[in-house]
Amino acid sequence: MYNIAIISGDGIGLEVMESAEYLLDKLDINFNFKYGEAGFECFNKNGTTLPEETIKIAKSSDATLFGASTSTPGQPSPIINLRKELDVYANLRPIKSYQGIKSLKDNIDFIIVRENTEGLYCQIEYEDNDKIIAERIITRKASEKISEIAFKLSKRRNKQNKVTCVHKSNVLKKTDGVFKESFYKVAEKYPQITTEDFYVDATAMYLITNPLNFDVIVSSNLFGDILSDESAGLVGGLGLAPSGNIGDDNGLFEPVHGSAPDIAGKNIANPCSMILSTAMMLDYIGEKETALKINNAVENVVAKGKILTPDLGGKSKTMEMTKAIVKEMI
Ligand code: NAI
Ligand code: MG
Repeated sequence: MYNIAIISGDGIGLEVMESAEYLLDKLDINFNFKYGEAGFECFNKNGTTLPEETIKIAKSSDATLFGASTSTPGQPSPIINLRKELDVYANLRPIKSYQGIKSLKDNIDFIIVRENTEGLYCQIEYEDNDKIIAERIITRKASEKISEIAFKLSKRRNKQNKVTCVHKSNVLKKTDGVFKESFYKVAEKYPQITTEDFYVDATAMYLITNPLNFDVIVSSNLFGDILSDESAGLVGGLGLAPSGNIGDDNGLFEPVHGSAPDIAGKNIANPCSMILSTAMMLDYIGEKETALKINNAVENVVAKGKILTPDLGGKSKTMEMTKAIVKEMI
């Protein structure tokens, strides 16, 4: 029996979480779901975007599923704070091309490892007369920790055996200087892994001109976030981009996308990013075979090209695609 926290949030977060729950219900595994609130609607109701109760539920679960939240003016981001509360310091964002879906190149297959606890995402901003200041904190400890994860992952993937460090140390000489230095310090422990480092602006171009170059990309919080939406765009969009936030004691799984107010309420959101995030969650709790089955089912449904949501060129609704994926698993 696994205790799983379910935090749907706002907008399409609610719709894609329905897909995840539908799928989990059909599995031959026992789950005890605990539900938590977060986000914009939650703020309107409770005066906070992330209630203590939700943090408690997530902390006491074996893993957490998060949908998406709409940002609330003047309030901190619930997902950033939840990542902090759970100390899930590594945000893993796999990117791969799917047969049947237009991709910039066939066989794109890399993973972004994004530092999750510091950088500009500390949300420390203040004013000093006419100066508006955002703090960008980078520590050696967090930089080494995230590089360590990246090298381990490249070794485990056993594909190109390469890690690319992405930074902007030509301008952010101190903060990104430390990020890069930490990367090369950790690299010494992994002589069998090839290393390279690029500036973030050049990386944004290389992702388009030579996406097959990449195996594991490690970067700081904001750069990792921006590059992951760009990378999702290479292989069919945010509807196919899952993510896992991993720490020493907790795992929090969520699609890369947000609450998509432009399509919310229409039941046309692509459920795959949430379903693939659910597979990452199952892999994390030890249900590796089921995780693999889900990934294969998504691949097959997408490749058949019959039941697809509009973002992938189809006409199907969120639950129609979800049911097709579940049926494919049996
Ligand atoms: P978004 O990721 O919600 O949407 C960007 C574009 O991708 C939209 O055109 C949307 O329709 C499309 N899209 C996203 N997911 C899709 C799916 N599953 N199926 C089909 N199309 C999909 O980003 P946006 O519009 O910049 O932000 C909307 C809200 O979400 C904002 O309030 C933002 O702050 C919040 N946000 C929350 C995140 C989270 O909770 N982790 C992450 C990113 C944004
Ligand atoms: Mg993002």
